[in-house]
Amino acid sequence: MDAIRIYGGNCLDGQTTIQGSKNASLPILAATLLIDGTCEIENCPDISDVYHMLRLLESLGCKVERERTVVRIDTQSFSECDMPSDSVCVMRSSVMLVGALLARTGKICMEYPGGCVIGARPIDLHLKSLRQMGASVQEDAKGFCAEAARLRGAVLRLPFVSVGATENLILAAVLADGETVIEPAAREPEIQSLCEFLRSAGAQIEGSGTERLVIHGVEKLMPVRYRIPADRIVAGTYLCACMSAGGRVFLRDAPVSHMESVLSYAERMGASVSREADGIVVTGRVHESGCDLVRTGCYPEFPTDMQSLFMAVMTLSGKAGRIEETVFENRFRIVPELRKMGADITVQGNVAHVGAVDGLHGAIVQAQELRGGAALVVAALAADGTSIVTNRHYIDRGYEDIVLNLRALGADLELA
Ligand code: UD1
Repeated sequence: MDAIRIYGGNCLDGQTTIQGSKNASLPILAATLLIDGTCEIENCPDISDVYHMLRLLESLGCKVERERTVVRIDTQSFSECDMPSDSVCVMRSSVMLVGALLARTGKICMEYPGGCVIGARPIDLHLKSLRQMGASVQEDAKGFCAEAARLRGAVLRLPFVSVGATENLILAAVLADGETVIEPAAREPEIQSLCEFLRSAGAQIEGSGTERLVIHGVEKLMPVRYRIPADRIVAGTYLCACMSAGGRVFLRDAPVSHMESVLSYAERMGASVSREADGIVVTGRVHESGCDLVRTGCYPEFPTDMQSLFMAVMTLSGKAGRIEETVFENRFRIVPELRKMGADITVQGNVAHVGAVDGLHGAIVQAQELRGGAALVVAALAADGTSIVTNRHYIDRGYEDIVLNLRALGADLELA
């Protein structure tokens, strides 16, 4: 079955090594298309989104070799083929291939990309900016075709911050004619990783990690080896698992400097957090301590990807609080599932009001998307009795071995 069975009630104890970042890997894998030769990407997580991205690259003629978390991509045999629409549809990051393929081949046709159902998630900013860079884009109900003999630099003023649009436009700009300015650019650590990867390959990018990126197009990029940093959202997930179940866990390799907003909210909710050179030590459980409001925002603010995980923790804290979602308009899909476990949550617009309850009980609940699915597992660790989280495939999009890792920390759960 496509599920996880969790017997709640065990405290966690031990250490877990945090996998490579999903959201850093995907645009970097797309970026290899801009490089003629073989790139070696280390610490690439073994998750289904990466599998789909590698499949897309293979379908474009790239040679892909994988030994556990090391991936080699040889783009020399690249040929223009159709991309498998099943991979494009399951994963929003396939849109990342648009900028890279336009830059490399001058043409791309694609069905609209999929991904987690957490809002409308249009790609209008991507397409509008590519038009400003000289691409002609034709859209219909199912997808779009974009064409440009050669992209040219432009001043791209975006109406709001978008992680995906920033990444796509960086990929379009690094080999374009002249200078491109992206403002406001997203500042997420994953954007900084993409810039670091491209700069090591010879790209000229200024302002990485700031709201204004300036990219000078170059003629060619060189093959490189790059190590993907650890996943801050996966580290945050195990942090929440410990806050929920209680105990003491060392999150080895957790990217401490990129997690400050999450760590400070965790402390406000009663966890004890020790920031170490090689990771984070967290001591839960949160009880009778809470924080009135958790508000999501663009980096360095609290990440929307951690929102449902903190909702699970807040529910278990025994104190009422609110969660305000400012990035996606449909990211409270976990609420009816948590209610099945005894949570008292009501949603008004983009605010979820979490009432104080004595505890949660086991239930059969359905993962609706990646992080919400992981949050249900986190809630079930502390619930009274047995829970089953169905639709495990959503969780597999972003987590390597979540069941084995939690079991190694002392939780009682299994694939079902
Ligand atoms: C990325 C992350 C995702 C994270 C999100 C916000 C990856 C693979 N995914 O998603 O995990 O939750 O950033 O940190 O890195 N929007 C538009 N038009 C556009 C583009 C975006 O209206 O053309 C809207 C979206 O609907 C959303 C908001 O902008 O409401 C932010 O989206 P964006 O930052 O682009 O998120 P993603 O890149 O999809």
